[in-house]
Amino acid sequence: MCGIVGVLGNHEVAPILVEALKRLEYRGYDSAGIATVNKGTLSRRRAVGKLVNLSDLLVHEPLAGKSGIGHTRWATHGAPTVGNAHPHRAGSVAVVHNGIIENFKDLRADLGKRGISFETDTDTETVALLCESLIRDGHAPVDAARATVAQLDGAFALAFLIEGEEDLIIAARKGSPLAVGHGAGEMFVGSDAIALAPFTDQITYLEEGDFAVLTRTSLDVWDSRGDKANREKRQIQLDNARVDKDGHKHFMAKEIAEQPVAIDRALKAYCGADGDITLPDDLDFTKIDRLTMVACGTAFYACMVAKYWFEQIARMPVEVDVASEFRYREPPVADNTLALFVSQSGETADTLAALRYMEGKAKQIVGLVNVPESSIARESNVVLPLHAGPEISVASTKAFTCQLSILLMLALKAAQQRGIALPDGMPGDLRALPGLVHQSLAGEKQIASSARSLAKAQDIIFLGRGQLYPLALEGALKLKELSYIHAEGYASGELKHGPIALIDEKVPVVVLAPRDALFEKTVSNMQEVMARGGKVILVTDAEGAKLAGDGTHEVIIMPQVPDALAPILYAVPAQQIAYFTAIAKGTDVDQPRNLAKSVTVE
Ligand code: AGP
Repeated sequence: MCGIVGVLGNHEVAPILVEALKRLEYRGYDSAGIATVNKGTLSRRRAVGKLVNLSDLLVHEPLAGKSGIGHTRWATHGAPTVGNAHPHRAGSVAVVHNGIIENFKDLRADLGKRGISFETDTDTETVALLCESLIRDGHAPVDAARATVAQLDGAFALAFLIEGEEDLIIAARKGSPLAVGHGAGEMFVGSDAIALAPFTDQITYLEEGDFAVLTRTSLDVWDSRGDKANREKRQIQLDNARVDKDGHKHFMAKEIAEQPVAIDRALKAYCGADGDITLPDDLDFTKIDRLTMVACGTAFYACMVAKYWFEQIARMPVEVDVASEFRYREPPVADNTLALFVSQSGETADTLAALRYMEGKAKQIVGLVNVPESSIARESNVVLPLHAGPEISVASTKAFTCQLSILLMLALKAAQQRGIALPDGMPGDLRALPGLVHQSLAGEKQIASSARSLAKAQDIIFLGRGQLYPLALEGALKLKELSYIHAEGYASGELKHGPIALIDEKVPVVVLAPRDALFEKTVSNMQEVMARGGKVILVTDAEGAKLAGDGTHEVIIMPQVPDALAPILYAVPAQQIAYFTAIAKGTDVDQPRNLAKSVTVE
C-alpha cells in the first residue's frame, strides 16, 4: 500500500507535496518521491527510506514548479531502491501508483516485443511506458492515459503528470481510494482526504472505475462505463492539525497512555451517565439472527473477543474471520445476518473487499472505524465511529481498546434488545473502565525492566484462555511487529497438543490470566510449561498471584476487574511488553520495518 498525491497549485508545489506525503506516510515508508513540471520540463526527485530523506534531498537539489505529483511507497514489486521509487517516468510521462497491476507481466512482454526496455522491477513503470508509447503513437495525453488504464487489471489509484502540461493531472481509481480536493484556483488529488486536509475541505471522492481529468479550475470525471459522471463535492470535517507526540518518545507511547481518555470518549459516545447504551436507530438486534465479523490483524483480534461477548452475553451466534480469507471462502450468508467490519483506518483493502462481498447478501453492513470519511465508512449502511482520535503509530493500541469497548457495548445492547439479562454489574461497570486502564498503565516500570531480558529471546509464547485467548494472539502480534522477535499466541489448552515441544529455558512464556472461571485450567497449563524449564511471566490480579505466582519467573499484577472487562485491561501489558522490548532491541517503534499503518493492497 502506498500514498499518492497530486497538486495543481499557485505556488511552488514541492513543499506542498511533501506536507501531503507526511500525512500519507502511514500507508508506507520504504521510499518517497515527487515529480514536477516547471516551464514545461518534467523532473523528479526520489529517495529510499522515510520521507525525511526526500526532504533532505530537496534541500540540496530543489525542484521548482507549480504542478506536481508525489508518492510514499510500501514495496509490492521490486525492492525499496531509488530506481524502484515512484514517480516512475517514461519520456514525457510520470506516474504515481497505489495498488498492484496484476497483468503487468503480460503488458511488459507486449512492450518488450516492441523493443521497449525497462529500468525497474516494478509494475508501475509498465503504466508509464504504456502511456508514453501511446503518446508517441500520436494520442493526446488524456486519451493515451485513458487507453492505458483500460488495459490494466488489478487494483490501482493512479496520477499522471505530463511534460509540457502545466495545468493537467490525470487520475484513475480501481480498488484503491482516491479523493480530489478543490482549492481556490488550485486542484488536488490524494489517496485520502487526510492528505489534503491542510489545503482544502472541499472533497470529491472518486468512485470505482472513475477516470478523472484535473485542471486548476475544473474536474471532469468519467465512470467505469466511460460515461461522463457528476461526482458530489462535499465539505468534510477533518482534523487537519498535525498530530504530535505530546512529549512522549514515540507516538505509540502517547497512544498507549491516551487509552483511558480515548476509552472514556468512546464509552460516552454510546453510553449515557444513566448507563443507557444508545445505538444508531437502524441498528436493531431483534431483527438479526447472527453476526458475521470480519477484520485484519489487531482489529480481527477485537472481533475474536467480541465473539465471546455476543455469544455469552447476547446468546447470538457469531462467525469471525480474517478478511483476506473471508471472501475467498465464499461463505453462504444466512438471512438476517448483520455483517460488522472493524477497521481503524477504514481503508484496509482486504476488509473493504470482504465488505463488498457482503453487499446484497447481509441484511445490514456496519463499519466500526476510526476515520468516518474512509472507504469502509462510506460503503457501510451504518457507521459506528471509534472516537479513538488519530492513531499514528503503526502498532494499533488505543484503537484496539476502543474497538473492544464499543463491541462490548454492542453486545450488551444486543442482549437488552433481545430481552436477555445482563451480567451482574453491567452496564454500570463500564464506567470504571477508564480508571482501571489508567491503573494498569502503572505496570510499565516493571515491564520495562523485564523487557530487557525478553529482548534476548529468539522465540516468545503468549497464552490465554477464553476471551483472553485473542489477547494472547494480539500480544504475540504486537511483539512480532515491533521487536521482530518470533512470537506465537496460543489458547492455553492447546499448548500440550504440540507447541509444548518448543518449551525450554530459553523460551519465555507470557500467560494472560485474570482469576476467572478458567484460571485453574490455565494454571495447569502453566505448570506443564514450568515442569519443562519454561520461564513463565504471569499477568494476573492479586488473587491470581497469590494462588499461582510461586515458581513463575515474574508476576505482573493487574487491578481486579469484572470478567467482561478483562480483555480490554489486559491489552495494556501486552502493548507495554511489545513497546519496551522493541526499545530494548532498538527497532523503529512507530514505523517498524516492512509495515504500514494501513494495508491498502490485498
Ligand atoms: C496492528 O498493530 C497492525 N498494525 C495491523 O495488524 C492492523 O491492525 C491491521 O492491518 C488492520 O488495520 P485496520 O484496523 O486499519 O483495518
